[in-house]
Amino acid sequence: MNQPVMEGLRLNVPAFVKHQRLIAWVAEVAALTQAKDVYWCDGSEEEYDRLCAQLVAAGTFKKLNPALRPNSYLACSDPSDVARVEDRTYICSAKKEDAGPTNNWMDPAEMRSLLQTGDKALFKGAMAGRTLYVVPFSMGPIGSPIAHIGIELSDSPYVAVNMRTMTRMGRAVLDVLGQDGTFVPCVHTVGAPLQPGQADVKWPCNQTKYIVHFPETREIWSYGSGYGGNALLGKKCFALRIASTMGRDQGWLAEHMLILGVTSPEGKKYHFAAAFPSACGKTNFSMLIPPAAFEGWKVTTIGDDIAWIKPGADGRLYAINPEAGYFGVAPGTNTLTNFNCMASLNKNVIFTNVGLTDEGDVWWEGMTDTPPAHLIDWQGKDWTPAIAKETGAKAAHPNARFTVSAINNPALDADWDNPAGVPIDAFIFGGRRSTTVPLVTEARDWVEGVYMAATMGSETTAAAAGQQGVVRRDPFAMLPFMGYNMSDYFQHWLDMGKKLQASGAKLPAIYCVNWFRKGADGKFVWPGYGENMRVLKWMLDRVEGTGQGEEHAFGVTPRYQDINWQGLDFSQEQFNITTHIDKAAWAVEMGLHEELFAQLAYHLPAELPATKAKIEARLAAE
Ligand code: GTP
Ligand code: SPV
Ligand code: MN
Repeated sequence: MNQPVMEGLRLNVPAFVKHQRLIAWVAEVAALTQAKDVYWCDGSEEEYDRLCAQLVAAGTFKKLNPALRPNSYLACSDPSDVARVEDRTYICSAKKEDAGPTNNWMDPAEMRSLLQTGDKALFKGAMAGRTLYVVPFSMGPIGSPIAHIGIELSDSPYVAVNMRTMTRMGRAVLDVLGQDGTFVPCVHTVGAPLQPGQADVKWPCNQTKYIVHFPETREIWSYGSGYGGNALLGKKCFALRIASTMGRDQGWLAEHMLILGVTSPEGKKYHFAAAFPSACGKTNFSMLIPPAAFEGWKVTTIGDDIAWIKPGADGRLYAINPEAGYFGVAPGTNTLTNFNCMASLNKNVIFTNVGLTDEGDVWWEGMTDTPPAHLIDWQGKDWTPAIAKETGAKAAHPNARFTVSAINNPALDADWDNPAGVPIDAFIFGGRRSTTVPLVTEARDWVEGVYMAATMGSETTAAAAGQQGVVRRDPFAMLPFMGYNMSDYFQHWLDMGKKLQASGAKLPAIYCVNWFRKGADGKFVWPGYGENMRVLKWMLDRVEGTGQGEEHAFGVTPRYQDINWQGLDFSQEQFNITTHIDKAAWAVEMGLHEELFAQLAYHLPAELPATKAKIEARLAAE
């Protein structure tokens, strides 16, 4: 693009910006989008407060009662813009095979024409009447050898303030970038240009949406949405989709995983990384408070959503959390199920799409047993328990979220910010399955673990637009976040295992869990949340070589007596419901594995169908 910078456009380059290529690119995007002016974020607290005040004035933010929720805001989005849009998300690799059958693909030239160069290109004039915010951010500690820098250009001040909490954002990043450092360019517009004199709406967005990744040039272009993973481009777009392709090329892993530390009363510390699909319990598990029976045990949070994992010099895998904050699900969160999370939300929070109480505080379904007598729901309507009963209206959208800094978390791990990361003892994969899948299973080896992760199924949730509660295959909880061909990704995991094994190091153990099995009454059988410590402890005992279990077709599962039940009234019968292997259900399940492998036949590693054959032979023999 060689368009001259639009006449009258103010680039406003501050003295601390020394990177000519960056300045030229900002000028180019400003000209393409016809932004009114440019603002370079320095990441300061003063700037955050100023942008929040501006969002209040624009009606996007409501300031919450400072006596109840200091320095906190509520934003309510357009009702059509409430979650990630998977069917509008594209991986535009040069070759279609490299995006693979699980991703939407378009030829990069065609996509560029649609977005940037064609006569009616969507980004042309998209920021008219709006300020373009330059948001420099680091995924991982600033200056760390494992961190990577991105620059998001966005016409949304909501995005700018959220990015300050979710990443290390601002001037310090540009200082590290220097005159010629590399960065991942991320362009975002809400796609709602303003005519001169036209009043803005509180949540501008566009019915047309494109969330586009160019893996070869490591670029992100996002159009039409202001919400979450569609718009905060450091998160799913960069730290998972683009980073997964970087990891494939450079020998590391970018995963949709929480990272937790668990310390024994004797002071021995272990680290687990766990992949559950969106809205399936990562934030909760990463902040778990062990039940009273586990006195002296402590769980600490390194990350709640994303892990970057690299082999260390000692042959072990080390994980860092590339983020600096949590963009977590509000509904269902309360002091009983997640005390640490509720404590994190006491101050300095941005809430999106929850209810506003008459006292100027927030409320969502599941926060308290007794709902407020009246509130304003996320769509701005009067809400009372009676209205809810009659119409089913929700105070909060099911994908309502909070944005909060990691440093608010009372359970934050001392090493959460350590550039070296933490050594991983075990991986956990888990889906939301009301039937079929047992509470916990240990893989007998790395390949069996990769098979478990690759074939995992989960019921869809409100975290993505579309039908909910439908079981779909979600390999490694990465289905919506893979930046390349899924089968090549399976191969990458197998190769990583082989390489680590060759170096003589002990490979992390691999487990598969399911907290969500339901009984005949339609209720969850497993109490979940803090009680998940009992399962975590069994996994730990297995890692230590002291835990017992029973071997079956899929791996090893604890017997009733292998788990510590002290302080919990949970019968052998209840336990059996959570662990029972129903042969008929598993016959159907294996058929779904077969379907997945047929879909992923191109480049599918031979180890996976071979593992399937072994499992089927065992099932037939049992
Ligand atoms: P994303 O941020 O979308 O990636 O979600 P997440 O994986 O971090 O899920 P989160 O911890 O926010 O939990 C999502 C929903 O599942 C919330 O409503 C939780 O209350 C509920 N949940 C979490 N853990 C458990 C559990 O152990 N048992 C049950 N029954 N529900 C759980
Ligand atoms: C998820 O959907 O897995 C999230 C929320 O963590 S979002 O950032 O919107 O992707
Ligand atoms: Mn997530």
